Amino acid sequence: KKFRVFATCDIGKPALERLRAAGYDVEVYPQADPPPKSLIIEKVASGIDGLITTLRDKIDAEVFEAGKGNLKVVAQIAVGFDNINRADANKYKVPFTHTADVLTEATAEFAFFIMAAAARKLWTAERNVRDLKWGTWHPFLPFLGDEVTGKSIAIIGTGRIGLAMIKKCSGFDMNILCYDAAYQNREYINSIQKVMDLRHETGIQKQRTTIRYCELQEALSFADFVSIHVPLIREGEEGTPTYHLINDKTLGWMRSTAILVNTSRGPVVDEVAVAHALKEKRLGGAALDVFEKEPLPADSPLRDPEIEDVCRLYPHFASAGKITRLDPDPNKGMAGRVVQGLMDVLEGNYGADITKMPYVVNKEAFKS
Ligand code: GLV
Ligand code: GLV
Repeated sequence: KKFRVFATCDIGKPALERLRAAGYDVEVYPQADPPPKSLIIEKVASGIDGLITTLRDKIDAEVFEAGKGNLKVVAQIAVGFDNINRADANKYKVPFTHTADVLTEATAEFAFFIMAAAARKLWTAERNVRDLKWGTWHPFLPFLGDEVTGKSIAIIGTGRIGLAMIKKCSGFDMNILCYDAAYQNREYINSIQKVMDLRHETGIQKQRTTIRYCELQEALSFADFVSIHVPLIREGEEGTPTYHLINDKTLGWMRSTAILVNTSRGPVVDEVAVAHALKEKRLGGAALDVFEKEPLPADSPLRDPEIEDVCRLYPHFASAGKITRLDPDPNKGMAGRVVQGLMDVLEGNYGADITKMPYVVNKEAFKS
């Protein structure tokens, strides 16, 4: 066989078929739960060429050391890669790839959906019907919601997913406050303002709306909704740290009616602080798809029955659309893209120049 690959999860038949058709010897970890790190190390030490990982696998010097001389690529089926120690990958000169872009729209639409569902109290309303508590149509309801149209939103992080969320929010005539430490995609944001102006001038949109960059405090202070789209960066890692970006202090800047949406990484938000703020009604609601510990522990303060109506909890599945997850086409699905990223490195595509391979993250380690 050509190359040996170990995948820590099943990525679906069509994508695996591509590898096998290319002559690869592919072993897939058969359980739904992730393999223990000791097993990953064992597989890597057995001389595999490529490793397919998920965000659940901790990939660091121990793994790279075990793969010394053999392991040529780590291909992660996710856009986020905080579970992979970049400095260690660079030290061992192992490129790692991710699956950005293909999940951008799915993740952004999901963020929008859970924001809107929280605002309009869909969960409380449905339970009312199921519990046979639906009396009659009436102007007043115990679960009157907040409209989304025309409201203000803070977009924290204006990378790919943040921009896609902006696009969706602008369709709902929202005022958009952007915070991004690196002011990513400024041009795009200016162009959205032009679209907003045109829609207002032509009467398609009644209210004039604006989109602009501001400091975190200002963004959080004026927003009805706050949606987070930053990668997890811990202290000491490259980039502006985002660990516990939402904490007691920054929650204090937010309106007591604001709804917090997180589809990025759990540790960006201090969950104890959020649960507290919800309980004391200093925060209006939360819609969370990601958590500091996943799966969410039974004793998480976010499960407090007292905040049940305002705290929506989801199983880290923003990207979980069928095409987004499983399509074997690298321009459509994460499965296709993870396979392509792996093959680019092993096949020596792009003239074997790793710095030219589009899905490789740590290109800096391969610049001559
Ligand atoms: C999922 O969380 C991802 O990073 O793709
Ligand atoms: C509600 O159903 C309405 O007709 O306003």
